[in-house]
Amino acid sequence: MSDADAFFDSIYPYRKRFETHRSLPEHGVDRAQILEELSTMAHEEDAKGDKGLVSGSIYHGSHDHYHFLTQAFESFAHSNVLQRDMYPSSTKLEGEIVAMTLGMLHGEAAEDACGVLTSGGSESLMTALYTYREWAREEKGITEPEVIWPVTAHCALDKGAHYFGMKVHHAPLTDDARADVEWIRSQITPNTVAIVASAGNYPHGVIDPIAELGALALEHNIGFHVDGCLGGFILGWAEDCGVSIPAFDFRVPGVTSISADTHKYGYGLKGTSVLCYSRKDLRKHQYFTAGGWPGGIYLSPGMAGSRSGGVIAATWAAMVSLGKSGYVEIAQGIFDTAAKLKHGIEQIPELKIIGDPSFLVAFTSDEVGIYHVNDALADRGWRMNGLQFPDALHFCITRPNTSPGLIEQFLVDLAESVEVAKGIPEGQAPKSGALYGLSGSGPEGVKAVEDLLSGALDAFYDPAP
Ligand SMILES: Cc1ncc(COP(=O)(O)O)c(C=O)c1O
Repeated sequence: MSDADAFFDSIYPYRKRFETHRSLPEHGVDRAQILEELSTMAHEEDAKGDKGLVSGSIYHGSHDHYHFLTQAFESFAHSNVLQRDMYPSSTKLEGEIVAMTLGMLHGEAAEDACGVLTSGGSESLMTALYTYREWAREEKGITEPEVIWPVTAHCALDKGAHYFGMKVHHAPLTDDARADVEWIRSQITPNTVAIVASAGNYPHGVIDPIAELGALALEHNIGFHVDGCLGGFILGWAEDCGVSIPAFDFRVPGVTSISADTHKYGYGLKGTSVLCYSRKDLRKHQYFTAGGWPGGIYLSPGMAGSRSGGVIAATWAAMVSLGKSGYVEIAQGIFDTAAKLKHGIEQIPELKIIGDPSFLVAFTSDEVGIYHVNDALADRGWRMNGLQFPDALHFCITRPNTSPGLIEQFLVDLAESVEVAKGIPEGQAPKSGALYGLSGSGPEGVKAVEDLLSGALDAFYDPAP
């Protein structure tokens, strides 16, 4: 097999198994065959996640739960919630999702807490940036907006700043892997519209110094967004689980918005996140209305136009069916498993934990190539996330990872993998690297990764060769 053939097989594993549709089939394909093909792909792709061998990505993991959500989805799959007069149910469901999320994040401590539903964490973060840009333009006349966040903040923020023409200052970390508050203080200018910090961040699961940054935001009358996209729906239950973490929600003075993803630890289907604000007068800056359009009077709360009511119904169903006790029970298992993982890693002298983790444990090494460790873990069936600056791995604990004995087996495999890595001759390149959301070949540098990813993105939208 040629290299090109092998490469295409790896990114299009079905190209030799199922028909590739390069144009519409002349006549419709039999439904039973369609469902059979889809279910074959889904079963094969779920196998690893169902066994709990994957870091993050799959948050609930029970197919019974997903079946229930799909039933809820089905009722509104075809609906367009832009047409509120036809689908007033979405007003009930969205409002209640926001209210339940605000309850978890102690919205009662804020001035006038409110929120919106978005399509996911990235949209929540980008919308928050847009809101602060508009707020600062209208309230303070700022036309060259600047924002500040730590290097560990999710890069959807950089994407948003790029889209909306905002200048970003990336703050370094202190030794505990948290945002450097003094550095952030030193970068605030009259053009600063907002700062952002994470609870917890994607690379290390670390909670930034939210209270200190809140005080800074108050002092300068700027926005302060807490990215709880990943951590919100798990850290929100820490107190109930007896896990001690610093406050990160609306009880912290100066916090003006928080994002929390219902499609992660909220256990909904993919396609929803909640963006909460401390005040309604902030939220209004993300609204778009057009009164003079020939197509009619148009109003939309955020970036999306037409939206399906299906994911909204499924998200609401997930929240109401689990209830607080359901969330707390799952969270307890996750915190306990992460604590075992942290303790186990601490017993492996070659490894070093980054920061003070509670649900996601990141580890690096000064002694072995961490991607060689990752390769050996992959050979044993595990799928970790690779990080860089420094090279590290993280294991984001989700419900499927909490099954009895699983983390113990991981720790055995991890210790073995460190031994394997120690035996690899210097100069031998690892197979894995630090590609977010992908496990691929090791990057030579940031530019090489960017070029590689652009090529991969083209491939995502082309049919198999
Ligand atoms: C901390 C954090 N923020 C934002 C996001 C972006 O979320 P999404 O992938 O839903 O757009 C993620 C995704 O993992 C995340 O970990």
